[in-house]
Amino acid sequence: MNNSIHPEAGLASAAAATIPGSATANPAPPADAWIRQATVDDAAALAELAATTFPLACPPVMTEDDISGYIAEHLTEARFNSYVANAERSVMVVEEPDADPGDSSSTRVSRRLVGYSMLIHTPPLDVEVQAALTLRPTSMLSKFYIRADAHGSGLSHQLMNATLSAAAENGSRAVWLSVSEENVRAQKFYAKNGFRTVGGMNFPTGRLVLRDYVLERAV
Ligand SMILES: CC(C)(COP(=O)(O)OP(=O)(O)OC[C@H]1O[C@@H](n2cnc3c(N)ncnc32)[C@H](O)[C@@H]1OP(=O)(O)O)[C@@H](O)C(=O)NCCC(=O)NCCS
Repeated sequence: MNNSIHPEAGLASAAAATIPGSATANPAPPADAWIRQATVDDAAALAELAATTFPLACPPVMTEDDISGYIAEHLTEARFNSYVANAERSVMVVEEPDADPGDSSSTRVSRRLVGYSMLIHTPPLDVEVQAALTLRPTSMLSKFYIRADAHGSGLSHQLMNATLSAAAENGSRAVWLSVSEENVRAQKFYAKNGFRTVGGMNFPTGRLVLRDYVLERAV
């Protein structure tokens, strides 16, 4: 399985592509970004990225304590270590040259993680989700996050392409996900990428039970 996209060859050809099932051509991605499967060496950087980007998806009803509580429980370096090492999950990262690498005397090109995704390849446990989905076997898109300064850059579409490919390579016929009813930006993005709403589910987090839409698409 080839889970990396070369910064020049891969992304250059992907830039002109249209995602199957989507009516929209991809925006041109930055030429020096790189998408690959995560390793345990990424765990610390993934935890930092996740803590930075998780709040971007949170509805206003979540307080700072709700958000920090979720991060402390689910988005730690230890968690990402186990996610990356788990064969029933696929974690993909987008990295690009770091504009502020710190040590200017170093000749090594420093790179930073800009986004990540995580698939879970086991069947859904939630009965509402089980009833809503129409295609099996399926992978859950559990996480999909891009740093705010890269929104609208096209990187999210490149990461989606790589993530859908990883699901297909793991034998899934479809990918499903849940998205907050209030996260309109993500809903628009998923619609452009061929997902359709098939139901809803509860999303319990700390003291709150939020309501999500359930979306699905074939791969
Ligand atoms: C969701 C995400 C991956 C999409 O990536 P992106 O690069 O922003 O996606 P795009 O720019 O291609 O598409 C977003 C769409 O929402 C629109 N949009 C941007 N901000 C918006 C807002 N505040 N409200 C509604 N729509 C908005 C954009 O205009 C665009 O629509 P258009 O193509 O019709 O103009 C990215 O925004 C992100 O990481 N968000 C934070 C984390 C998150 O919400 N993850 C999903 C969890 S389920």
